[in-house]
Amino acid sequence: MLTETIEGLNIRPEGTYVDATFGGGGHSRAILEQLNEQGRLVAFDQDEDAKARVDSGEWLAGDTPNPMASLPAKFTFIHENFRYLKNYLRLNGLREVDGILADLGVSSHQFDVAERGFSTRFDGELDLRMDRRQETTARDIVNSLDEESLARLLKLYGELPNAKQMARAIVEFRGRRLESGGINTTGELKEAVSRRLPRGMENKYLAMLFQALRIEVNGELDALKALLQQSIEVLRPGGRLVVISYHSLEDRLVKNFMRSGNFEGTIEKDFFGNIMSPVRMVSRGAVQASEEELQLNNRARSARLRIGEKLDNGE
Ligand SMILES: C[S@@+](CC[C@H](N)C(=O)[O-])C[C@H]1O[C@@H](n2cnc3c(N)ncnc32)[C@H](O)[C@@H]1O
Repeated sequence: MLTETIEGLNIRPEGTYVDATFGGGGHSRAILEQLNEQGRLVAFDQDEDAKARVDSGEWLAGDTPNPMASLPAKFTFIHENFRYLKNYLRLNGLREVDGILADLGVSSHQFDVAERGFSTRFDGELDLRMDRRQETTARDIVNSLDEESLARLLKLYGELPNAKQMARAIVEFRGRRLESGGINTTGELKEAVSRRLPRGMENKYLAMLFQALRIEVNGELDALKALLQQSIEVLRPGGRLVVISYHSLEDRLVKNFMRSGNFEGTIEKDFFGNIMSPVRMVSRGAVQASEEELQLNNRARSARLRIGEKLDNGE
């Protein structure tokens, strides 16, 4: 999907681009390869590990001893949430950009560190924060919400069919462990819901549970909405918005926004019957990973790539 993603940005070598989700820097590197000396790339990531990767220069493969030193001034990294896209671009003297990429969700680096709590495979802290400068963790949510609010969250963000039973199991389990602070680790959370996981679908249900908590901890849907809205304000007409999402809640927002300019997908027409949207979808459906890619990376199974283009009538 890397090729389709980069092609989707329709890169002009002298243009200015945003990688809203630096992660391991794979997409940033591919964008930089296409830019000339006038071109510019601004990358965001709220995770301090991503910042450390930028600082180390390791993401720029090659034999250069200190690749960051040789990285031309065309690359800027912003260790912030992309929900502040417009403000940080302005702070860097940029009012208009030619393309924005967001590869949403969790990076493989985040998944692979047990104590960050992202993976259902390990036993780690019940943390799930992408930005560890923020205070609230998944542990706070799991131990403080009442049963009804917890059930609502699991239904809304995890789309768990048995959200109520899951919430009850969590509340009962934590009630039995008050002296040790309730549920502290991903292992304990898994134990709490173990009898509520349908046989043969244990991993799927756990993934849905973790997804719900992650979306809540990181305010993921609000951040995505802010990014989409601001992208229209900062893209030049003809500029591209390329988004890869990993679950239906995100993909629905992206699809609706690219189709209609709003999150409900309501098409509004002018007096002459023309669709009044600041953006148009470049590809009809979502692009999905090829079988070949899935062999290498199973996580790509849920990836949906959508490409939009800012129209001339956009603000
Ligand atoms: C799937 S990874 C991106 C991988 C990247 N495209 C690459 O080539 O390595 C998603 C990254 O986006 C970051 N991220 C997610 N939501 C964010 C947000 N609202 N603001 C800033 N960074 C965010 C995560 O911390 C994570 O590092």
